[in-house]
Amino acid sequence: MIRAAGSDRDTTIIDVGGGASRLVDALLQDGYRDIAVLDLSANALAAAKKRIGQAASTVDWIVADATTWRPARTYDVWHDRAAFHFLTDPRDRVAYVERLRSAVRPGGHVIIATFAPDGPEKCSGLPVQRHDSVSLAAELGPEFKLVETRSETHHTPWHSTQAFQFSRFRRQK
Ligand SMILES: C[S@@+](CC[C@H](N)C(=O)[O-])C[C@H]1O[C@@H](n2cnc3c(N)ncnc32)[C@H](O)[C@@H]1O
Repeated sequence: MIRAAGSDRDTTIIDVGGGASRLVDALLQDGYRDIAVLDLSANALAAAKKRIGQAASTVDWIVADATTWRPARTYDVWHDRAAFHFLTDPRDRVAYVERLRSAVRPGGHVIIATFAPDGPEKCSGLPVQRHDSVSLAAELGPEFKLVETRSETHHTPWHSTQAFQFSRFRRQK
């Protein structure tokens, strides 16, 4: 989905709730040059930086809460896998979308992956709000047009499965 949103390697990407995920490694490997990773956890970002080594210095590591963060710039692609679904309070989802709206340029893309309606009710022991493309579209508002949605069965390291949905939206204006 990220490649579909921005095949140009100058595409600017933020991975929100990226934690220690290896997505940033894959993006660097692909040749993307302007990547930010935001997470509440300084420890998770430190683990990713250590793993990546020297190339980590080219990444913007942001320790922040996505519901209160004040973006200093805009991005072409906002990616979030399994962070938004922790926002079970509607007020937090509204605050998150406010940040997203100030960080995604018109014409930019938003990719949000969450547990699907038939997915688990908890993630890492915490309750989650499950979504599909329709509920996400309602959260984002009419400026964001759904481009594609996919189901994915995630196989966890502890040999269970989790039903995910991935939805990609394009900001119209
Ligand atoms: C289940 S992990 C997913 C990590 C990564 N995106 C992946 O797919 O492997 C959720 C991550 O979201 C982060 N997170 C949860 N709520 C957040 C918030 N309000 N702001 C920023 N990060 C948040 C957590 O610290 C954690 O690293």
